[in-house]
Amino acid sequence: MKFLSRIASSVLAAAVLVPGTSLAANVIAGQRIYSQHCIGCHGPGGHSALPNAPHFSRGERLMQPDMMLLATIKAGKMTMPSFNGILRDQEILDVIAYLRTLQR
Ligand code: HEC
Repeated sequence: MKFLSRIASSVLAAAVLVPGTSLAANVIAGQRIYSQHCIGCHGPGGHSALPNAPHFSRGERLMQPDMMLLATIKAGKMTMPSFNGILRDQEILDVIAYLRTLQR
């Protein structure tokens, strides 16, 4: 058991340390995607640039599971376009991980 948990933790460490592995969400990649696809409306650092877009800097709308946010971002909502076919699920999960770092 001890041996197994040691293997498990080194696999986990590898996922965090090796760039490009997709086991864990990648906040750095998420930041890049955010500045390409989201910043125009949600603003730098999540300080919203539109009156009706949530402020991620205040944690707005982020009190929901990643899978629900993923579904909303893929579908689009009101004036937010659908990102289905534009971003892969893993990329959207990376952005969500980044959004969760913005609350101040
Ligand atoms: C054209 C402007 C625009 C762009 C681009 C945009 N959004 Fe939005 N987003 C909005 C608006 C407006 C809302 C609020 C929709 C509503 O009225 O509920 C929103 C809502 C959200 C929400 C909250 C969903 C909920 O449950 O209410 C999340 C999360 C989100 N956006 C993430 C993103 C991410 C990630 C990107 C980039 C991949 C992005 N948005 C790009 C305008 C935009």
